[in-house]
Amino acid sequence: MKKFYLTTPLYYVNDLPHIGHSYTTIAADILARWKRLLGFDVFFLTGTDEHGTKIAKSAQQHNMQPLEFADMIVEHFKRLWQRLNITYDDFIRTTETRHTKIVQQVFEDLIKKGLIYKGKYSGWYCVPCETYLQTEELSGKNCPNCGREVELIDEDTYYFRLSIFQESLKKYFKDNPDFFAPSWRAKEMLNFLNQGLKDISFSRTKVRWAIPSISDPHHTIYVWIDALLNYITAINYGCEDFFNYWPADVHFIGKEILRFHTIIWPAILIAINLPPPKKVFAHGWWTVEGEKMSKSKGNIIDPNKIIDKYSSDVIRYFLFSEVTFGEDGDFSYQALVNRYNSDLADNFGNLVSRLLNMIETFFNGEIDNPGGDEGLIKQATNSIKNFYKKMEDLAFTDALGEIFLILKKTNQFIESKAPWNTIKTDKEFTKNTLYQALAALKTATIALHPFIPDTTTKLWQLLAQQQDLSTQAKGLFLQGEKIFFSTDIKLKKCNPLFPK
Ligand code: MSP
Repeated sequence: MKKFYLTTPLYYVNDLPHIGHSYTTIAADILARWKRLLGFDVFFLTGTDEHGTKIAKSAQQHNMQPLEFADMIVEHFKRLWQRLNITYDDFIRTTETRHTKIVQQVFEDLIKKGLIYKGKYSGWYCVPCETYLQTEELSGKNCPNCGREVELIDEDTYYFRLSIFQESLKKYFKDNPDFFAPSWRAKEMLNFLNQGLKDISFSRTKVRWAIPSISDPHHTIYVWIDALLNYITAINYGCEDFFNYWPADVHFIGKEILRFHTIIWPAILIAINLPPPKKVFAHGWWTVEGEKMSKSKGNIIDPNKIIDKYSSDVIRYFLFSEVTFGEDGDFSYQALVNRYNSDLADNFGNLVSRLLNMIETFFNGEIDNPGGDEGLIKQATNSIKNFYKKMEDLAFTDALGEIFLILKKTNQFIESKAPWNTIKTDKEFTKNTLYQALAALKTATIALHPFIPDTTTKLWQLLAQQQDLSTQAKGLFLQGEKIFFSTDIKLKKCNPLFPK
């Protein structure tokens, strides 16, 4: 079976999860579900990044030990992932021994290879981003990423010889044109690379809440190195089965951590003789009503509240329909309500209700293939070809758009055929109308499954399918089979899927 390995960033446990973290995790879940539908052996990894000053400070503010604090926050992440129907295969915490011991080993290997050497770092550091910064990168006295004040640090450190990987990275990017996704993200990193890479500090002496170096325990390993290595520690780096999944097929990240994932991470991998990941997809950032989300502004969106009021499918749908996946977007409750009403309630839910209602009323819930026109079914089958291509390109928003277009066309088809009139004069014609609409709806249900798994599972039952969704999906996506509807089950009216 073909393998597929995908990851999310490891989220910091300094605070509760919000809509931004959910966005990346849902994206990964959509792809994981999609690949499973196609029959891949998927390994979907997520987890938490638990070391460093940022976490230690948060714990202290709560009068807790760092690990105790992390344990508490981790439960919030796990609970939210469960509520959002996230089907991860593994959840790694950077405080687990399976991780820390490999991080220490890699650090020692790099020292032995002469790729890490001892020196001194004096310069700027941003604690919220856990990032070293050059003076010319600062905006005033603040971090260019998070806007918060930076610290001056002056301490002994172990440097990683990042500078010597410049040419290997250039070559890797050239040989792997699909590495950056969306492709336009490459430009910024190529510019950065062309300015020349500098060696980077890989250890701290003043940070105690981190993994100590084995040979020089006075130093702890820089949290970003610790965190990045999760992508290999979770799949048993050093063991025989490691290459079952490595190299990763996709790392999903937000745009602000692109440099870590496309320059530093591949360089570390090349340094330990491993191939870099095949692709890094960096999506944009969500603002809230035009403003950056922040605790001080009090505008952090808690996905739990949206789940309580609507459902997890509503957030999942909203985030990937409202803004083209990859670009920046703006969240507002008004936009969410608009999408809910127009797309989910009207276009989708209403189609389901009226169709099932007519089938029950006009045909006693029994409808078989009457033969005749197949125009709508053919259109739906064609849209599926476009959908497939878009899913494989990770163009999730366009892929969703394709399916909602099928639903719109199906609504228009019903309008134009007016089965409520034709039933009085031509039963066979009416049956053909409803049969085709049902086949189109079924096609859409299968395609929407990775996006809105709860609703589509419920709908699949309403459509009283004997064959399970994933078996039908393989026929639809891999063999291009037209979807027809089995005949032997009675369909019933249903309550609205998305009540207004
Ligand atoms: N711990 C590091 C990542 C280490 S990966 C080896 C980290 N953690 S984080 O908790 O700050 O999470 C950052 C990620 O959360 C972003 O890359 C992005 O995936 C997601 N988002 C956080 N806020 C976001 C928005 N406002 N909008 C969209 N996604 C954002 O960085």
